[in-house]
Amino acid sequence: MSALSIETPVLSVRDLRIEFPLGVVVDGSSFDIARGQTMGLVGESGSGKSMTSLAIMGLLPKEATTTGSVRFHGGELLHRSDASMRRTRGDQIAMIFQDPLSSLNPYYTVGFQIAEAYRAHKGGTKAAAMTKAAEAMDRVRIPDAVGRLGHYPHQFSGGMRQRVMIAMALVCEPDLIIADEPTTALDVTVQAQILDLLTEVQEMTQAAMLFITHDLAVVSQISDHVTVMRYGRTVEQGTAEQIFSNPRNDYTRALLAATPRLDDVVDLPEPILTNGGE
Ligand SMILES: Nc1ncnc2c1ncn2[C@@H]1O[C@H](COP(=O)(O)OP(=O)(O)OP(=O)(O)O)[C@@H](O)[C@H]1O
Ligand SMILES: [Mg+2]
Repeated sequence: MSALSIETPVLSVRDLRIEFPLGVVVDGSSFDIARGQTMGLVGESGSGKSMTSLAIMGLLPKEATTTGSVRFHGGELLHRSDASMRRTRGDQIAMIFQDPLSSLNPYYTVGFQIAEAYRAHKGGTKAAAMTKAAEAMDRVRIPDAVGRLGHYPHQFSGGMRQRVMIAMALVCEPDLIIADEPTTALDVTVQAQILDLLTEVQEMTQAAMLFITHDLAVVSQISDHVTVMRYGRTVEQGTAEQIFSNPRNDYTRALLAATPRLDDVVDLPEPILTNGGE
């Protein structure tokens, strides 16, 4: 399958293959994400979505071997040193995960954690970093951001904690945001608020975003382009409009048919589960 051609991509993944001693988990993934654009990466559990994102961030387990290419602003990310990737991660490439409680340190205030994330990459005084933290919390609409700088993670609700994570991801103004199931743990109303917020923040910052989810309804809300994965392979790729209005692959059709919120707007045939249309 040929990759989408988009001008001047922030991220360009080509023929990415990830292999563990026990087998191949991603087999030939290719996609581009341009500035201000969102690629939705969808597929069932175990299809290789998280492995793809970990490869981009240089966080794969040591026993994994990768081939292909992951270019960020034209520069190769694969096989870079840990030190070099640490400088890029959190600064130019930010991550948002499903469970903010496991990413935030319970013993430090959120203000301190966001400020330190800023200072680790940008330097400056603690006071200046704390001002940045307050600005970031305000940007993600945490009420009384300044007053809440001194609160601990457990003092926030699940939705507010995810806002804290987004604030931390944004504080260095990254060019690429990788969000792996960022709303899966939240109830539907809060999920919708977080998706709106991510869209808004992205419009403001023009960051490129890789948005990983198994939920096609979520993808339809947030993505410009969609990549559908199954068993480590890309089974279909296209604009969100094309994927949702005219899916070509049987597996994509089956996924769509299994998504109740989309059944209202898309007239779909019965699901036909085949091995990725092969
Ligand atoms: N440390 C590991 N060693 C070998 N294989 C692994 C390891 N971690 C995960 N895998 C395998 O890699 C494959 C892809 O996993 P991945 O986590 O990318 O799936 P996913 O699409 O993110 O699924 P989910 O929707 O459940 O998060 C799975 O088959 C999984 O069993
Ligand atoms: Mg995953």
